[in-house]
Amino acid sequence: MPREILVTSALPYANGRIHLGHMVEHTQSDIWVRAMRMAGHTVHYVCADDAHGTSIMLRAEREGITPEALIEGVWKEHIADLRDFGVVYDHYSSTHTEANRELTYRIWQALEKNGHVESKPVKQLFDPERQMFLPDRFIKGECPVCHSKDQYGDACEVCGSTYNPIDLIDPYSVVSGAKPIEKESLHFFVKLADFESLLKTWLEERRHAGGLQSEVVNKLKEWFADGLRSWDVSRDAPYFGFEIPGQPDKYFYVWVDAPVGYLAAFKELCDSGGKPGLTAADFDRFLDTGSGTEMVHFIGKDIIYFHTLFWPAMLHGAGLRMPTQVNVHGFLTVDGAKMSKSRGTFVNARTYLEHLDPDWLRYYLASMLGPTLTDIDLDLKAFEERVNSHLVGKWVNIASRCAGFLHKFFDGKLAATLPETAHGRYDAAAAKLEACAALYESRDYAAAMRLIIEVADEANAYVADHAPWVMAKDESRRDELHGVLTLALNYFRLLTIWLAPVVPTTAARAFEFLDDTPADFAAALRPLLGHAINPFKALATRIDPKSIEAMIEVSKESLQPSVSASSSAHPNPLPQAEAGDQRAQTATSTSPATVSIDDFAKLDLRIGKVRVCEAVEGSDKLLRFELDAGELGTRQIFSGIKSAYAEPAKLVGRNVVFIANLAPRKMRFGVSEGMILSAGTGGNDLFLLDADQGAGAGAPVR
Ligand code: 2FM
Ligand code: ZN
Repeated sequence: MPREILVTSALPYANGRIHLGHMVEHTQSDIWVRAMRMAGHTVHYVCADDAHGTSIMLRAEREGITPEALIEGVWKEHIADLRDFGVVYDHYSSTHTEANRELTYRIWQALEKNGHVESKPVKQLFDPERQMFLPDRFIKGECPVCHSKDQYGDACEVCGSTYNPIDLIDPYSVVSGAKPIEKESLHFFVKLADFESLLKTWLEERRHAGGLQSEVVNKLKEWFADGLRSWDVSRDAPYFGFEIPGQPDKYFYVWVDAPVGYLAAFKELCDSGGKPGLTAADFDRFLDTGSGTEMVHFIGKDIIYFHTLFWPAMLHGAGLRMPTQVNVHGFLTVDGAKMSKSRGTFVNARTYLEHLDPDWLRYYLASMLGPTLTDIDLDLKAFEERVNSHLVGKWVNIASRCAGFLHKFFDGKLAATLPETAHGRYDAAAAKLEACAALYESRDYAAAMRLIIEVADEANAYVADHAPWVMAKDESRRDELHGVLTLALNYFRLLTIWLAPVVPTTAARAFEFLDDTPADFAAALRPLLGHAINPFKALATRIDPKSIEAMIEVSKESLQPSVSASSSAHPNPLPQAEAGDQRAQTATSTSPATVSIDDFAKLDLRIGKVRVCEAVEGSDKLLRFELDAGELGTRQIFSGIKSAYAEPAKLVGRNVVFIANLAPRKMRFGVSEGMILSAGTGGNDLFLLDADQGAGAGAPVR
């Protein structure tokens, strides 16, 4: 029975880049969507940027742009990264849209009307300088347990203790450096206790229907032990988000409108008329509790509560349908450890794409992904070996070894029947691979890949046993040769059909070579016979380990400073997420909203006359400067402005402004002794500050 399914991936935050950690999820959901479509179901696949929250507000402020401009730029980058990984959403939106505002209000008003909302005063730490309440991750101080310095307000990264931010010793605001004070404010809450028995039933029912993993349900049950506490869903201004209707200066916490964004993105898709067969009316039908449609979310294990308690409660409380499945995956590790910027294993999606084929990562991840919450390790050596052996050696090679003979002796045309001697072989292989449909559906991609490779081994053994290269030398064996090539190429086609959800771009090239357009898995049941195929062109190349090494090297470098506000040689990292989140680990920095004149006086700003300016070999961001700093001597400074200055030599002779009293910083290319100032937002939007001719080398800037 064909099903109609809305599929979503967790919405990436709009203040960081897409990295390989995100790709586990987008790959997992994209493979699922492609497989379910090939199995004959109708799937709507949407995602969006998660655009609200304190981090985004502060980052925009720091960059001197509006939050709207910030999220617009990031949105474009996210769309391009995902598309280039072959992740094809029907619609990729943002949570900062009118559709999402309307839907969030609709759900909120229904919750209020149904009596599920309460308000009460809450005491929280407040930054008296910046005049804002501070989320836990924006407060740091000494851990009350192990006394490590500079620990976040909610947990110590050294000893692992969790605590209340009020318990930190010598707390300070990450935003301004000020000592926070306690302050009270009215907050709004959703009364989760109202939904306790509903949620318990829903969890069990979904577990039985295969819509929730047992590990997830068991974890959640622990939460019910002490009763569900009300969920604080409001935040005070200043905040970037949706204002709560009728409550000036109160905003919805980002986690309220984020999941609503799944539905808003789908609504936009329905309203746009851009997808054949989908109209505005379909959205309302879909929201209905009895619609018979399915809503399937893919998420990481860090955001289970939001999706299996808060979100279903909100939906139910507003009289709307609940999720059908919430599929949870583990985190990505690289070479057995947490992704690390210093080791270069925190790899951005774009950096990967600049070095390696996206299908290769998709295949590797598929070969590791099962239906559990286990973490996935990207073992770089295994990645190289598996892709080269399985995809190039066992799959693509079947085609490359046989296609030439078919063109040489048979005008590229496959025989009209399969060889007598191989009778049943094709059918047996096709029948075996049919099991992959269920494996894809249950997200046991690793098992599906094992089955596919098993059949690929059979195909290769068949080719090796029949040695078409030997037959080709004997004119009397032409028919026999034709049969062998036809079966071998049909094996190749069969494998391609079943691999297509995982390696869509390479599979598309393979189908072009076969001059075939199989639309679904059912096409695998009938071999391709009496059909002319195209000449073979390389479908894929082996992974060169040097590309992996280069990718890691470049990722190490991306930690290094580039100029603009985010690029001082001494970044002061601002948290990205308000809840612990593996997907949001991108370093950024801030400057206090206001500083005293004494603070300013601490900076030793000087004029430096550029003596040497050159590109740094092996770096795509840095320029190396040698400045004549007058009484301070010569200073070497690395500055990340290469993309804005294509001809560094032309900067020689300029009087730039630099910070002379930053502690020297050891970088991969040498020691950087200060920071040169530029204006702009980064990339090629950077402009060196300089003084009029006449300003002496080393002159102080005040
Ligand atoms: O954890 C995260 O990355 C969040 N931005 C996910 C939001 S998913 C949803 F509910 F919208
Ligand atoms: Zn500690």
